[in-house]
Amino acid sequence: NRPKVLITRSDIPTVGLNLLKEQCDVIIWEKPEPIPRSALLSKIQNVDGVYCLLTDKIDAEVLDAAGPQLKVVASMSVGVDHLDLQALKKRNIKVGYTPGILTDATAELTVALLLATSRRLIEANRAIYKGEWKAWSPTWMCGPGLSGSTVGIVGLGRIGTQVAKCLKGFNVNKILYTSRNVKQEASEFGGEKVELDLLLQTSDFVIVTTALTTETRQMFNQSAFTKMKKSAIFINVSRGEVVDQPALLEALKNGTIQAAGLDVMTPEPIPLNSELLKLNNCVILPHIGSAAIETREEMSRITAKNIIAVLIGKPAEMPTPLQL
Ligand code: GLV
Ligand code: GLV
Repeated sequence: NRPKVLITRSDIPTVGLNLLKEQCDVIIWEKPEPIPRSALLSKIQNVDGVYCLLTDKIDAEVLDAAGPQLKVVASMSVGVDHLDLQALKKRNIKVGYTPGILTDATAELTVALLLATSRRLIEANRAIYKGEWKAWSPTWMCGPGLSGSTVGIVGLGRIGTQVAKCLKGFNVNKILYTSRNVKQEASEFGGEKVELDLLLQTSDFVIVTTALTTETRQMFNQSAFTKMKKSAIFINVSRGEVVDQPALLEALKNGTIQAAGLDVMTPEPIPLNSELLKLNNCVILPHIGSAAIETREEMSRITAKNIIAVLIGKPAEMPTPLQL
């Protein structure tokens, strides 16, 4: 009697798909778009495991629709803010996610986004096509350099730590961070734990790598942007909901801060008529932090393994169970 597993998207990497197909009966939402809520509520009935993505909200209603045989929910993501962890715990459902695996890829994208924003890569590239490149110019398309700067990392976890290590190679002067606890790894890059206000007031680059929680939701509001330097570059690669987006738009328009680079926003996808898309000092990417080919393959493999460990092996063998 093979366990039944729902996969909520058609285009997951084949490595994870094949692993599951070998040992389980797989039900796939056969579209490359997120599964609509109504389809999720019906397809999840009677399955033993779910392979989901960060676009799927898994809450008490969904779990109740599944039924009591559901034993594992594994998300192909490091973020778990789309999962109602309390509801999962209450029903004794095991939870898998993919931390660690995507740290390097996401840090790499964070540095790319930071440089694209500070050195105005997208704006400069567009300027060529608009015929605005008249000659090499001493003052044209300048932006702040990293060398000698102060970098602030808000929420120093695995990804923030790797970003700090990368930036050290650019000869930054100082790395500040906020975190619940002092991080031992921070000694490797001379990171200094400070209060958020001090980080905002003194950083030339503010990089957000925190998880979305009740404490971090809307953390970057008007008051936070006002504390930052006028020359500050703001980078968000965590979740859009940590930012009060209208306040960010205002801060970018009226020069409260210099520029922003966002891999995450609200909503996703960003509507094409969003004012943020009209600004030269805002670089927007379509949530591609972990989108390195090998990384996505590994994320799918681990997500499948998390499911298989619970349904066929032992929960204790899950590569990355979430500690609830
Ligand atoms: C990406 O945002 C992830 O949570 O994996
Ligand atoms: C979690 O977001 C991490 O930093 O790995």
